Amino acid sequence: MAVSLGLEDVFIKYTGLTYIDGNAGVLRYRGYDVNDLVEHTSFEEVCYLMTRGELPSKKQLEEFKASIKEHYALPEHVLELISVLPRDADTLTMMETAFASLSSGDYKWSKENDSKQVPVILGENLGIISNIYRHKMGMDLKNPDPKYDYAEAFLMNCFGKADEKKVMAMNAALVIYVDHEVPASTTAALVASSTLSDMYSCITAATAALKGPLHGGAAEAAYKQLLDIGTPDNVENWFKTNILDGKKRLMGFGHRVYRTYDPRMKIFKRLATELDQTEEQKKYFEIAKKLEDLGVKEFGAKGIYPNTDYYSGIVFNEIGFPIYMFTTLFGFSRVLGWLAHVTEYVEEEERLIRPRAVYTGPDKRDFIKIEDRK
Ligand code: CMC
Repeated sequence: MAVSLGLEDVFIKYTGLTYIDGNAGVLRYRGYDVNDLVEHTSFEEVCYLMTRGELPSKKQLEEFKASIKEHYALPEHVLELISVLPRDADTLTMMETAFASLSSGDYKWSKENDSKQVPVILGENLGIISNIYRHKMGMDLKNPDPKYDYAEAFLMNCFGKADEKKVMAMNAALVIYVDHEVPASTTAALVASSTLSDMYSCITAATAALKGPLHGGAAEAAYKQLLDIGTPDNVENWFKTNILDGKKRLMGFGHRVYRTYDPRMKIFKRLATELDQTEEQKKYFEIAKKLEDLGVKEFGAKGIYPNTDYYSGIVFNEIGFPIYMFTTLFGFSRVLGWLAHVTEYVEEEERLIRPRAVYTGPDKRDFIKIEDRK
């Protein structure tokens, strides 16, 4: 019996959400190229597109934004919960805890309930992630200001200021990370939803799967490589010692689906240069470019190219975030993809996800009582 380790090439659902052509490096959400969406839309428009099927009219968008803003303010217990977590805890652990605390446990799935629940969770998501940052930074927790749209409200609640370029980059990052078909985190959310668990629990399951360095954690790991390299003239030496001789994986490189450049990586690379860079940030960008060239030269023939997480840390750092926020910022956007996939699955093709395992343990054995065992 064949086992597909890592569920490689196993199709677990039909989807009208996200199309990936891994050989051509194409990514589309509901038929729209990710580059066009990054260029022309707000995160809220993409949320509307993903959860309701079409891009909104101006009026529909305003109503949708208002329904999200109603829920920027978190229930008091969630703010209290974040504030008592150890400040040195992992930010994704904080995210899991906050979402788990919102679960009522008895959610009734239906098209009507789901479409009401999505803007609630998107609003709460903004409150949760911005307050995780505030807590890490030792600031008092406070709810985002509904005067601002999503990306700006987020930066305002984190930093108390938000210039136009940073809002543009934050919005772009949110759009880029929205969805990517069924990676490990989305699959975890789908498994939870297939038991008809509630949406908050699905997000908690997905967040746990996002955490690891082979998935969302790669943005942090990729950026730490640049810090470890330190200077552009150390790139070749570092690459030889760590990757060629040390046989470590080059983080931010490789993908289960792409066999060429990840289109999201190209957008992040461009954004990194569109934001103002300090001398230090310029240096890390130079290191990243040199390392990218070496990585593509070494691994390109095997179809291993830089992925979305390769330059995203540089962009998040230029927006003003420390490394510990990178993976959580990925999750901040991907909450939308998780919601879109679980609602699509439960509403259109719900069936318990329950795969099998091939047994390789001992044959039947006679039971030995504890006093007779050696
Ligand atoms: N550096 C060096 N070699 C690599 C890398 C890499 N980053 N990625 C894959 N390989 C090699 C691997 O050693 C193996 O070689 P061989 O066949 O000689 O043993 C071959 O490629 C296949 O690797 P695999 O792990 O079986 O492939 P996969 O499809 O399971 O892995 C991956 C996908 C993303 C886990 C892997 O490429 C990786 O570990 N990359 C580094 C971590 C990373 O950047 N993750 C972010 C993924 S994109 C964003 C997201 O979805 O979260």
